Amino acid sequence: MKETSDLSSVRASYDAVAVDYARLLGTELDGKPLDRAMLAAFAECVRADGGGGAARAVADLGCGPGRVTAHLDGLGVRTFGVDLSPAMVAVARRSYPGLRFEVGSMAALDIADGVLGGVLAWYSTVHTPPGELPALFTEFARVMAPGGHLLIAFKAGDEKLRLEHAYGHPVGLDVYRTPPELMADLLGGAGLEEVARLIRQPADQEKSPQGFLLARKRG
Ligand SMILES: C[S@@+](CC[C@H](N)C(=O)[O-])C[C@H]1O[C@@H](n2cnc3c(N)ncnc32)[C@H](O)[C@@H]1O
Repeated sequence: MKETSDLSSVRASYDAVAVDYARLLGTELDGKPLDRAMLAAFAECVRADGGGGAARAVADLGCGPGRVTAHLDGLGVRTFGVDLSPAMVAVARRSYPGLRFEVGSMAALDIADGVLGGVLAWYSTVHTPPGELPALFTEFARVMAPGGHLLIAFKAGDEKLRLEHAYGHPVGLDVYRTPPELMADLLGGAGLEEVARLIRQPADQEKSPQGFLLARKRG
């Protein structure tokens, strides 16, 4: 997928907020038992998967400051992170020196075909226009082993919002809410079949329901 001006705006925005994002969201998962339950189920599926998931790594794509990468790694699946924003990756490396984090685009991964036991995309596709999701999910599926699992967290709904300010900084971010049924269809189109989904009501500062979809690569 080609670099677009939107992608440079996403990168610049997350570079600007990286330190404050990490500070403000560092312990967010502690108060979200359902989110943690989905991560725990994902970790268990990866470990149990017949495609050799226990031995294979999981990529946290759009890992931001690495808080979810570290949480997942703590659940017993070897996890590394990839993010577009060099400042986010710098924060992640500082915070979790024992884990691997790389700068890169999840739309064009520097990862061989079929090698991963799983992919996590935790609110990282929310800035991707819906028309670009099919190509993105094809790229996710490419790097996963047959039988590997994917967990995606997203904002459920059907609107596009514009964020000009976030975490105390000026930013320029489009945010897309996605209908859960459409998300399942798009993943299915890339060979990632739905296993389960959770839609929960907004908590804390959230303004819309939140979607979590667990899928498995065919084969
Ligand atoms: C809302 S943050 C979520 C970060 C992290 N998953 C978390 O929950 O803390 C979205 C992240 O996705 C990254 N991102 C967005 N588009 C990306 C792309 N095409 N490739 C890699 N990272 C991307 C951003 O840089 C940002 O760090």
